[in-house]
Amino acid sequence: MRAGRGAPAIAVLGCYGAVGRSVVRRLREAGTGPLRLGGRDLDRVRALAGTGSGGPAGAEAATGGAATGEAVTGTAGAGAVEARAGADEAVAVDLRDAAALAAFCEGCHVVVNCAGPSSRILDTVARAALAAGAHYVDVAGDAAVRDRLTAAGLPTGSAARRDPAGHGSDGPGSGDHGSDGPESAGRGSDGPGSGDHGFDGPGSAGRGSTGHGSEGRGSRGRGRAGRDGSGRVVVLSAGMMPGLSALLPRHLAGQGFDRVDRLTAHVGGVDRFTPAAALDYVASLSGGYATPLAVWRGHQVIPRASRPRRGVELPHFPGRVNAYPYLSAEAERLARSLGFAEVEWSSVFDGELTLAALARLHDLDADTAAGELVRTSRLEAFGRTPYFQMVFRMEGEAAGRPVARTLVARAADSYELSAAVAVLAAGAVLRGLVRPGLHDAADVLDAGAVFQALLDDPAVTRLEVVDDVSPAVEVEEGVL
Ligand SMILES: NC(=O)c1ccc[n+]([C@@H]2O[C@H](COP(=O)([O-])OP(=O)(O)OC[C@H]3O[C@@H](n4cnc5c(N)ncnc54)[C@H](OP(=O)(O)O)[C@@H]3O)[C@@H](O)[C@H]2O)c1
Repeated sequence: MRAGRGAPAIAVLGCYGAVGRSVVRRLREAGTGPLRLGGRDLDRVRALAGTGSGGPAGAEAATGGAATGEAVTGTAGAGAVEARAGADEAVAVDLRDAAALAAFCEGCHVVVNCAGPSSRILDTVARAALAAGAHYVDVAGDAAVRDRLTAAGLPTGSAARRDPAGHGSDGPGSGDHGSDGPESAGRGSDGPGSGDHGFDGPGSAGRGSTGHGSEGRGSRGRGRAGRDGSGRVVVLSAGMMPGLSALLPRHLAGQGFDRVDRLTAHVGGVDRFTPAAALDYVASLSGGYATPLAVWRGHQVIPRASRPRRGVELPHFPGRVNAYPYLSAEAERLARSLGFAEVEWSSVFDGELTLAALARLHDLDADTAAGELVRTSRLEAFGRTPYFQMVFRMEGEAAGRPVARTLVARAADSYELSAAVAVLAAGAVLRGLVRPGLHDAADVLDAGAVFQALLDDPAVTRLEVVDDVSPAVEVEEGVL
């Protein structure tokens, strides 16, 4: 086991997956200093860390920081850490190997979990991180992970949401959170580790929910954290959906609405499934994550109130697309917290192949079904320019008049968006902006700051809020 002293502040597990690669790149761009990178295939980890593949552990220079050529650590085998002081560390770790996972987490300040599928990993990495005294950020991790961690005694931190300036960007209806009281600290100075790492960029996206918690101040605080999880921060759902899919509507609700009544969300495009994302998608179909064809109406869930639509023109989507309505647990929470009377949410498939594959999935076991999704989504994207788009149209009232606004966010793929949110969450945690306990990213990140960060993000090809005076135009052609 390594001591915390000298270990990188951030460990990234699943570093060479689609989200992991982008997280690593973004963390480097944010100036985090050396990272600890982990995955099952050491050659792939080494390639990412820049440690090469031929030599003994730690013998190669890494690229993540200013290598000083000192302090080679670890021995051969799973969990062994390859590093030079000031450089990225490469670690072979299979998360099913408890000892290797514990060694991977040891000494780091925040473990960012990009390994998947989340539906199978559940709280395995979170528990190892907490046991090592580290904070934890999960690009996935929804209700099932939350329930397990809660059952294990980790306090939920949702009541700690607040904005120290007293005017968050959440807009109307967001007054259900924000009651920390006068002990609440200002942004960015109290938390563990703040100031002991060169993390200049995304940390400002935190909502500033630092409390005095159970930690000491400054970087020495991490040594005093309980290995039972006390004093630790867990941020789940720090990805595109769930995650950004709640943050962007929260931001929009703050754009000149006195009251919000109705939200229509269209989310999708031409996006390939990775193996882990496909397995999670398949797992989500069998319950818990969302209610297919449901809408939120009259402040409650109405099952089977909608229907799939084929060949429709949706505002801001190119050509005709297919829309599949559902209400996720996250959308329901959003509806409750912002006070919407109506929410209609649809996945958008720009193409026929993936949709057709989805219709066949129920006959297949999970691994075969996921493989089919990966294959067909790649086929669908072949010869086309993939894109992923989120369109939120919000209706409400301002100064006694009806208002409608639309937020459009577009990127080359959804994995970049997930990585962006995960890095913003890691930054907020590192800066001590998140109170100890269990949170969803959408509850602790400042929606306005996330929007601003995405405006400067090269992976985001469109991001804007547009006034929308005419009703959404949909030309319906048929029903699935
Ligand atoms: N919130 C969101 O919107 C969102 C969006 C995208 C993805 N996600 C989630 O993020 C996670 C990663 O997605 P992804 O698209 O990056 O998937 P991916 O490209 O398939 O990568 C998954 C990664 O997990 C690693 N992994 C799998 N089993 C492992 C094990 N036993 N030990 C160590 N590493 C292991 C894989 O390594 P090997 O290749 O060696 O197996 C790979 O590096 C998934 O749970 C996915 O659902 C969430």
